[in-house]
Amino acid sequence: MDGNGRWAGKRSLKRFLGHQQGAESVQFVVETASRINLPFLTLYAFSLENNLRRPKSEVNFLMRLLRSYLVSNVKRMNDNNVRMEYIGRIQELPSEVQDTMQWASEATARNSGTTLTLALNYGSRSEIVDAVRSILTGLVAEAHQRGCSLEDLIQVDGLESRLDEHHICDHLYTAHMPDPDLVIRTSGEQRISNFLLWQIAYSEIFITDRLWPDFRGIHLLEAIQAYQKRERRFGGLGETFTDEDLDQLEPACQVAEEIATELTPNQLTPR
Ligand code: FPP
Repeated sequence: MDGNGRWAGKRSLKRFLGHQQGAESVQFVVETASRINLPFLTLYAFSLENNLRRPKSEVNFLMRLLRSYLVSNVKRMNDNNVRMEYIGRIQELPSEVQDTMQWASEATARNSGTTLTLALNYGSRSEIVDAVRSILTGLVAEAHQRGCSLEDLIQVDGLESRLDEHHICDHLYTAHMPDPDLVIRTSGEQRISNFLLWQIAYSEIFITDRLWPDFRGIHLLEAIQAYQKRERRFGGLGETFTDEDLDQLEPACQVAEEIATELTPNQLTPR
């Protein structure tokens, strides 16, 4: 949700009016997501760094805006079958904000359409730290229960069975969600800014110059349309790479063999 401040600055308005307009965009975009049956939409609304580095007055305003957004929009969320969830160090937010957040998520918990996840007081590195701490805490508790040392516990089954990518995923805030297919960055910024670093390893990225307060459902659809034209390869060769292409590669394999032969210790003058 980038560009609220710039949107306001361009109109010689105070930054908070940009945030207010940005909150309006949220509902438009969510309702379009729900209309096209998008299962998950995650908005990076407030980072850990925003919380630490923005003036207290702006942070307080954002917290009030978030509460008022939730209170005013829960009915529309229900009308649109949208479920509210959150990721981030929520426990560090003011208690009255946490209460409203919990109320909104409970009030929409039965909806089965789009899950709108707000990333609040969120930072991806701290999410990974929290995941590792949680895994370690679990292991220590299990060792304690079995009456053995952590070292013994790990040795019994092997470290690989105790810690792999699936274990990390299962302890991230997003454990219940699939990895994002598409990341949209507004306001032309070409950075990831500590957002879902683990989860977006193979996500497609769409950058638009449009500032978040000007972003509407139609722009979400444009981004999805662009995404649908991408070829996702996940490190493989992709669907457009046919067997014919592979046939053409065979001579390349021969060349590789030839080069390998030339590199034997007896022939020290490779091409
Ligand atoms: C980025 O714009 C936006 C934010 C840091 C805050 C967005 C949060 C809200 C609008 C609060 C309400 C949340 C919801 C979900 C209703 P920026 O200030 O970094 O803009 P700039 O880069 O142009 O300065």
